[in-house]
Amino acid sequence: SIDISTLAKKTGLTTLDYGFVNTAATRSAITYIDGDAGILRYRGYPIEQIAQNSNFLETAWLLIYGELPSANELANFDDRIRHHTLLHEDMRRFFDSLPHKAHPMSVLASGVSALSTFYQDSLDPKDPEQVEISTIRLLAKLPVMAAYAHKKSVGQAFLYPDNSLSFVDNFLKLNFGNMAEPYEVNPVVSKALERLLMLHEDHEQNASTSTVRLVGSTEANLFASVSSGINALFGPLHGGANEAVLSMLGEIQASGQGVEKYVERVKNKEQGVKLMGFGHRVYKNYDPRATLVKESAHEVLAALGVQDDLLDIAQELEHIALNDDYFKERRLYPNVDFYTGVIYKAMGFPTRMFTVLFAIGRLPGWVAHWREMNEDPATKIGRPQQLYVGSPARDYPLR
Ligand code: ACO
Repeated sequence: SIDISTLAKKTGLTTLDYGFVNTAATRSAITYIDGDAGILRYRGYPIEQIAQNSNFLETAWLLIYGELPSANELANFDDRIRHHTLLHEDMRRFFDSLPHKAHPMSVLASGVSALSTFYQDSLDPKDPEQVEISTIRLLAKLPVMAAYAHKKSVGQAFLYPDNSLSFVDNFLKLNFGNMAEPYEVNPVVSKALERLLMLHEDHEQNASTSTVRLVGSTEANLFASVSSGINALFGPLHGGANEAVLSMLGEIQASGQGVEKYVERVKNKEQGVKLMGFGHRVYKNYDPRATLVKESAHEVLAALGVQDDLLDIAQELEHIALNDDYFKERRLYPNVDFYTGVIYKAMGFPTRMFTVLFAIGRLPGWVAHWREMNEDPATKIGRPQQLYVGSPARDYPLR
């Protein structure tokens, strides 16, 4: 690889690279992906070993600070996060004021952006103590806001966090508990959600992380940068695909025309018809996260005693696509989003919450990248070039 910015200065050369298919915007020591071999590692550790042995907060620490925490470090980290879960009461009123039909992703992005107004003491990206406290606040409060976005969308009262519970269990209670009855966390759901969140924690320079870095490169604060990342994740070509997969499976089921008919429509490139949850800019092989998610889908549905025809449709769709030349030639395989929706549905989350769950999972990665960028002396404000293709200079007509 060459450092194109030095070369460009010397030669006046500009590269045009739609979608940054071949252009690195930074160096990074956080996540390694080999898309041809289907390899994903966090700080050198294979994702399969992380999924098997770690937990959400330990992996978050690993991504943010670079090494696995000691038992003491992890306990302190967990404790600090638990003690920052409460939101300012005005923040609850802020959520109240949003329309209940709003998409939970828009509510979440608005809430994270609003954190800049409530915590003006921790907005300086160059002050390590402020960066540290804003990291903790974000990890603690974003899941609470995500649960509020859910409660808001179903018209239920917001609960206060229960800091005696773990990160994931607290989140489940905030989503599925109510004020009238005690809530017991189902350990199957808790374990599966923890695993899914871990699998989402980082994925190097994807669109939302690149957005967080680009916004952060202007020295914008962490809350502002992460809320921009949430908005980037919302799109159906990125995190929004998990919601779109479920709509697609539901559409196939409702049409009664079978999976093959839908695949034909995809191959005929009918306007707006894609195999959602398939294909990836980097993976030209099975996404290793999709393998792990598929295992979880079977385990969770079996443990919860849920029979969902959508899982059968998903498996049939995968089988047909993997054996079809159209998909083989283009090296299109299931990505992480393909099976997650079926699991989230079995857990009881409404479809519109699926991308919000992705955002909670991805948060440590966004924070880790923002901090890495912020600490890197080579960082410059992100400012892409363009090739101007408009009109040459002309005189304004005198009328
Ligand atoms: N269904 C059908 N055809 C597809 C799909 C798909 N899901 N994905 C790519 N293709 C086809 C394209 O039509 C194109 O065909 P062509 O060469 O005949 O024109 C070829 O495969 C290459 O596709 P590109 O669009 O160039 O691939 P790109 O790397 O730009 O896009 C993307 C990657 C956006 C993920 C794409 O595969 C897609 O839209 N997938 C569906 C949405 C999705 O699942 N997104 C989640 C991605 S993972 C994540 O963000 C967590």
